[in-house]
Amino acid sequence: MQDIHSQRILILDFGGQTTQLIARRVRESGVYCEIHPWDIEAQALNDFKATGIILSGGPESTIAAGSPRIPDQVLTLSVPVLGICYGMQALVNQLGGEVRAQQAHSEFGYASMALQGECALFDGLNDRDNAQTRELDVWMSHGDRVESLPTGFDVVGVSENAPIAAMANVQKKCFGIQFHPEVTHTVQGAKIIERFVLQICGCDALWTPGNIIDNAVANIREQVGSDDVLLGLSGGVDSSVVAALMHKAIGKQLTCVFVDNGLLRLNEGDKVMETFARNMGVKVIRVNAEDRFLERLNGESDPEAKRKIIGNLFVEIFEEEADKLTNVIWLAQGTIYPDVIESAASSTGSAHLIKSHHNVGGLPSNMRLKLVEPLRELFKDEVRRIGVDLGLPPAMVYRHPFPGPGLGVRILGAVTKEYADILRLADDIFINALVKHDLYDKVSQAFTVFLPVKSVGVTGDGRRYNYVVSLRAVETIDFMTARAAHLPYDFLDEVSRNICNSIPSISRVTYDISSKPPATIEWE
Ligand code: XMP
Repeated sequence: MQDIHSQRILILDFGGQTTQLIARRVRESGVYCEIHPWDIEAQALNDFKATGIILSGGPESTIAAGSPRIPDQVLTLSVPVLGICYGMQALVNQLGGEVRAQQAHSEFGYASMALQGECALFDGLNDRDNAQTRELDVWMSHGDRVESLPTGFDVVGVSENAPIAAMANVQKKCFGIQFHPEVTHTVQGAKIIERFVLQICGCDALWTPGNIIDNAVANIREQVGSDDVLLGLSGGVDSSVVAALMHKAIGKQLTCVFVDNGLLRLNEGDKVMETFARNMGVKVIRVNAEDRFLERLNGESDPEAKRKIIGNLFVEIFEEEADKLTNVIWLAQGTIYPDVIESAASSTGSAHLIKSHHNVGGLPSNMRLKLVEPLRELFKDEVRRIGVDLGLPPAMVYRHPFPGPGLGVRILGAVTKEYADILRLADDIFINALVKHDLYDKVSQAFTVFLPVKSVGVTGDGRRYNYVVSLRAVETIDFMTARAAHLPYDFLDEVSRNICNSIPSISRVTYDISSKPPATIEWE
């Protein structure tokens, strides 16, 4: 089996907002990479044995005192280097060129970069039809700019506000680009990163879903041997892919516990059992705990208190089940690479931390079990791709995120079985309609919220006085900011009619048009 980690790109993070995107583009080119903070220890940098190094962008100014610096080793190792934005300016600064603050000429957003001379990063690329005009549409975001180059470098790209928008030292295989190739607004960005890692660094495209799976299977087998493993299966993407992967690796040594808390979507528990237990032959213990959850939640209307009750009871039940399985040594978890990067960044405290999302599984950290985390190296899109390769239904793998506390935070105030049942039906109508009209994949997250207020309605047989639901659909990249999706009125009209016609206890449907901020995506 090929060692898919043998060729590897090191991405040094200077706190850029899009550093993870650089890593995703490198992986999409078929090459393994890791992100480390710019002040990585010298020993760790050596041990990494990078085939090439990419320096990220960052919010600071390279000419300010005490600003982050490229480790000296990077400049003396003879591996290819690509500096992006701050990374380019840091190269210039540390190699003897000049960077100047240019507030009046800062460039944010789209720019056209004219190519000059030959450069392996850009050769043959052109965003204009006319071969005489070699220009690329790129996305810029910088205040300072490069005024003069270090010895050995040539200008290979010019934009209106950056006379040195790209530079190259061909002999040293050292490149700098002022624009961000990792964002999709830079039309040829993915190609440029691919050029760097495949042609300039000479890597092979080994990082493919099939190879990732083979490698993960071998690692799992080596790690757990003949021990038994426990997994908390939620039906979400990460735990589902872990289940499929672990099952492929160790078959019956894996036991999954699926806790049905009564706050899941319509028929979700049955679907999870069908996919895993029936179709794939995974050992799944289903714990029907609806009554216990509803009893604990009884009368509680505070959102945070509800979250705590649901999270704590989940852990309690999970531990009860784990205690029954006396042979289990390992706990499998669906930790993915962004979780790893964020906790590393917070432990060094050096990077500008991006807010972490709510913790999904919420499993106990003090369990007696040892941890196996087979998705630790993967981004979400890679997890999805291997999920499909492992035979999971694409509809499950590409589903919108669903919060750990489930419908518990979509029923405003006190939770009852009556409310949960009504909400499940309405939500199912909304989601099915989105799928039918080809809108599901065009929004980032969609769901229905139950409002425990009554409103008057009128139907053929008279007056109604019943509950209200709100539809919510958002578009977002990172779930930290979002805007309400502009769903067509005709579509909303159809969903509203279907809900009121088929669920007599709902008299009114509204559409939530709030953005985040000031609202949040969920209502609680
Ligand atoms: P908010 O409501 O904070 O949601 O704008 C952002 C994203 O996080 C999800 N979310 C949660 N996920 N446990 C989770 O596992 C939670 O308590 C929780 N609250 C919100 C939400 O669905 C959205 O995708």
